[in-house]
This record gives sequence, structure tokens and C-alpha cells, in this order.
Amino acid sequence: MSGVQGALVHHGRSREIEGDVVALEPAMGDSTLLTVRVPSAVAAEIRPGRFFDILCRPDGSSDPLLRRPYSVFASDPARAELQFLVRPYGRGSAWLARRRRGDVLDLLGPLGNAYTLDPGARHLLMVAGGVGVAPLVLLAREAVASGRNVVFLLGAADASGLLAAGHLPSAVEYVVATDDGSKGHRGFVTDLVPDYVRWADQVFACGPEPMYRSLRNGLLPLRIGNRPRVQVSMEREMACGLGACLGCVVETKRGMRTSCVEGPVFDMDDVRW
Ligand SMILES: Cc1cc2nc3c(=O)[nH]c(=O)nc-3n(C[C@H](O)[C@H](O)[C@H](O)COP(=O)(O)OP(=O)(O)OC[C@H]3O[C@@H](n4cnc5c(N)ncnc54)[C@H](O)[C@@H]3O)c2cc1C
Ligand code: FES
Repeated sequence: MSGVQGALVHHGRSREIEGDVVALEPAMGDSTLLTVRVPSAVAAEIRPGRFFDILCRPDGSSDPLLRRPYSVFASDPARAELQFLVRPYGRGSAWLARRRRGDVLDLLGPLGNAYTLDPGARHLLMVAGGVGVAPLVLLAREAVASGRNVVFLLGAADASGLLAAGHLPSAVEYVVATDDGSKGHRGFVTDLVPDYVRWADQVFACGPEPMYRSLRNGLLPLRIGNRPRVQVSMEREMACGLGACLGCVVETKRGMRTSCVEGPVFDMDDVRW
């Protein structure tokens, strides 16, 4: 990589940018919070839910071939910085989580759509599973800054996998669940949802698809009509990230839609489960 920090290459709807790694810190057990310097214009156009496809291989290597998608966890246009929360699952993510300060990353984006806040919604319920927390942290910050009330539910395997409360605005009501009961509710994060359904004007979720199924099953009998509306981020495995390979399609009531371009955020009621 040439190492020209912040160089922009336009690719139609998306841009390939080079970003310097400026900080790394451990977060949520085995994950890493990666701070990357990017052009401030890029940081300024981030919306909660959008993501970047990041090249996860050293210069000169073609393995792994495909980029890996990462949601934006935080965006600071004044400092020209983005943050990504990286959990090591396999080769690509493990490589990314091992970066050092001064390394240069190749990012494509921002890609995809974003969560949308209804103008009249005052009470927002956010439901996160594991590193699905990333786009919802950004959304919670935006919601609190606009004077809304946020309840943020997070589920993890155990206490070490939870996000430190300091990453959320202090005005957020933060409630956690762990599989082993080492902190908060013992059980699934979706067990907590019924307590807040009548309070919430909108619900936003990010996590694995089984979590969405259980969220939906719990919500359906409690909703009045289709209220509160629920938006979910469908984090499918993605090959191209550009709408070309159709590897990430989601079946909706409007037909097949690509998660990388027409998502990743979908209305829960629009998805065929
Ligand atoms: C829109 C979008 C946003 C995302 N945002 C984030 C984020 O903010 N932080 C983050 O850590 N991850 C995020 N992911 C998931 C991340 O892209 C994958 O973890 C990554 O691509 C895995 O690549 P790999 O090369 O490490 O694993 P691979 O070698 O491709 O896979 C290794 C093994 O891990 C399994 N695996 C891969 N990903 C996951 C997963 N997410 N959950 C469970 N098992 C998995 C695979 O099935 C395989 O068995 C996001 C995914 C999408 C689609
Ligand atoms: S990843 Fe290729 S169409 Fe979405």
C-alpha cells in the first residue's frame, strides 16, 4: 500500500480509502477497538448502520481474497477518525485485530443504508448481541444528542464479553444479560425486551439472526398493530459488498434485496423469516 494517508479513490457509489491505525484498545473480552484516521469528509458522512469493507491481508498478499465488512462503532469528523470493534472469528478478523499503530488499512465505503429515527420517536429500545453492539452505540449517541431517551440492552456469553458502560452516553439506561449469569439477567438478551415494548416508540437490533427470530417471537404478541416498528441489521456474509455477486440477498416481502447495498438495515416486518 502506498501509505498516502486519507487518499481517496472514487468507485461510483463507494470509495476506497487508506486509513492510518492511530490507536487500539481491548474491548468486550477478546475484541479490539481500532481507531483509524480517515479524511474528515468521510467521517462526516457516516450514519449509524453503514459499514466499510476492509482488506484484511498484508501488502503483497492475496489471502484472504475478499474484504471483510465492519460497522462503524464511532465517528469523529473533527479528529477525522472512525472506530471499529473487531472480534476475531477467523483469519481476516484475527489479522485486523492484530494491527499496530501506524499500520495503513485499505477500506471501501461507507457502504449500505442506515437505521432511521422517526422524527416523533422519543423512546428508543436498542437490542444488541455481542459485537452487534457496534452500530447501535453510534445510533445511541446520535439519539441522546437529539434529546431522545434510550434503553440499551446487550447480551453476551459472560461478563467479560460486555461493553464497558463508559462507551455509551451517561443518559442511556444500559441493561445487560449473560448466558452464564455472571452479570445482569441470566439468559438471552431478548428475555428483557417485553419489559420495554410498551415504552418504546421504535426498536433497533443488531446481532445474529437467531437473536432476531427470538426477538420477533417475543414481540409479535405484545405489539399493538405493527407498533413499535423494529429495524434489524442483517449481517450476512458478504463477498463483493457492491451488489454484484448476490451472495448476501435477503428475502423480503418486496422480493430479494442485497444486504450490502439495499441493507444491511431492514424493517423486521419486511423480511420473510
Ligand atoms: C454489515 C456487517 C457488519 C459487521 N460488523 C462487524 C463489527 O462491527 N464487528 C465484528 O467483529 N464483526 C462484524 N461483522 C462480522 C465480520 O464481518 C466477520 O466476523 C468477518 O467477516 C469474519 O471474517 P474472518 O475472515 O475472520 O472469518 P472467516 O474465515 O470468514 O470465518 C471463520 C469462521 O467464523 C464464522 N464466522 C464469521 N463471521 C462470524 C460472525 N459474525 N458470527 C459468527 N460466526 C462467524 C464463519 O462462519 C467461519 O466458520 C459484520 C458483518 C457484516 C455483514
Ligand atoms: S456481497 Fe455481493 S451482492 Fe452483497
